[in-house]
Amino acid sequence: MSKPKVLISRRWPAAVETKLQQLFDTTLNSDDRPLSADEFRAALQNYDAVCPSVCDALPAEVLNVANKRCRILGNFGVGYNHIDIAAAREQGLVVTNTPGVLTESTADIAMTLLLMTARRGAEGDRLVRSGQWRGWCPTHMMSSDVTGATLGLIGFGRIAQAMARKAHHGFGMKILYVKPSPADPEIVADLQAVRCETVEELLPQCDFVSLHCPGGADTRHLIDERRLNLMKPSAHLINTARGDVVDSKALIRALREKRIAGAGLDVYEGEPHLDPGFLELENAALLPHLGSATIATRTAMGEKVLANLQAFFAGQAVPDRVV
Ligand code: DGY
Repeated sequence: MSKPKVLISRRWPAAVETKLQQLFDTTLNSDDRPLSADEFRAALQNYDAVCPSVCDALPAEVLNVANKRCRILGNFGVGYNHIDIAAAREQGLVVTNTPGVLTESTADIAMTLLLMTARRGAEGDRLVRSGQWRGWCPTHMMSSDVTGATLGLIGFGRIAQAMARKAHHGFGMKILYVKPSPADPEIVADLQAVRCETVEELLPQCDFVSLHCPGGADTRHLIDERRLNLMKPSAHLINTARGDVVDSKALIRALREKRIAGAGLDVYEGEPHLDPGFLELENAALLPHLGSATIATRTAMGEKVLANLQAFFAGQAVPDRVV
């Protein structure tokens, strides 16, 4: 029997590309160039499985292509707001993601950003490199304490809880969270976490606010001008979730006018083409969507896609099926 034809949209860690090639009739993207909408349409017509990653937009206009051969989208990533899920469902496509394996690495990046923005890490690095540093003095680049401060988490899933553990057990931070229903009592007790009923209740109490909700229409601009104005002027916003959860223009204004102290961002509206206003802000620490970018995590993400495809083509229950 011939092997299923599989296309992966971008380069993956070599170890998983090799396994994929052993198991399937696999087409790699050796020059790692993003595929166009037309190339995705052709892939859907010519492959049994297409494996996009989180920056590949798959709207209905692409998914609704005629004469489709593809039956499964094995997404390389946990977030799938780049795929029109309603259209995929309508087209009978199975969609899978990669939950669980990027929890700690993403929480590590959220903590990295929290420390960078609190302690002015990126700004200090720029100063040293510029040759303008004039040496230590008592009032130079003073910043905010992390240890013992209050961290508010919007969304309280796996990644938020991992961040809360690092913040609480490592830095003695007080944890607040917003989630539609109370979290597991054991987790709450371990973190001494306090639930807020609303984002409005949480924001004014926090020194740091970290976003951990999915992207998409329901959370678009969840953090807007009004909510930024509820944060303390000394507070910092961390976003490792999705760029469109924050109204970029409103955040740039708040940072410029010092209505909040700083931001640590790993994701952006329209990334990689972020609003140029961010580039002028000393009080924004900016990373290029590095949340899951460790060798072990990216390899584990590839293994997850592989396991999902194997189960699907063997006619078994697909472990990480979202549609
Ligand atoms: C995901 O998997 O959704 C992450 O954003 C990748 O880092």
